[in-house]
Amino acid sequence: MWLTVLGAVLAYVPALVSNSLAVVFGGGTPMDFGFELKDGRLLGDGKTWRGFIGGGLSAALIGLVLALLLGDHLPMYPPSCRAVWIIMALSFGALLGDVGASFFKRRSGRERGKKTPVVDQYDFILGSFLAVILTAPDWTLNTYFRGDGIWAMMIILIGSPLLHKAVNVIGYRLGYKEEPW
Ligand code: CTP
Ligand code: MG
Repeated sequence: MWLTVLGAVLAYVPALVSNSLAVVFGGGTPMDFGFELKDGRLLGDGKTWRGFIGGGLSAALIGLVLALLLGDHLPMYPPSCRAVWIIMALSFGALLGDVGASFFKRRSGRERGKKTPVVDQYDFILGSFLAVILTAPDWTLNTYFRGDGIWAMMIILIGSPLLHKAVNVIGYRLGYKEEPW
């Protein structure tokens, strides 16, 4: 059972690392190209194309390497190229969740970078699960919603805010991030 849970948690790594990698790659042209709505910027300068593409592809690459190294020993993804689509959905879905959150943060008058509890911790989880359930519904339900998969989901829900807290503080100390959240 624990091998199944470990495989499911490791399969989720692309979603866990894409936003942190976006911080490393970020900068340059904003995703909203500076577009303003009546109540402020569409997304803000904190969401850039370099961060989105660089973070998404590098996180997917990490997922692919993990799958190649561990896939024979742990139950991770379905075989063949379907795995690639799942990995991309997790990685880019997590980034889109964060982008979506920025849209709502701007609508509620929060400036770029302002701390938004709960939203900042769970936006990427929501985005990644929405994307992967659309891409591979059976795999997603079996891996995270049924049977022992529930344990993997619990570990992700409880563990990833703690992980991101740690990574964000480290990113802030190293000067990558402007705020420690
Ligand atoms: N980043 C990026 N592109 C993304 C996501 C993140 O370039 N799609 C980079 C930006 O440099 C951003 C940093 O990573 O400032 C931290 O990301 P995040 O905390 O999500 O952005 P914030 O600056 O806090 O902006 P927001 O208030 O919109 O979340
Ligand atoms: Mg932020």
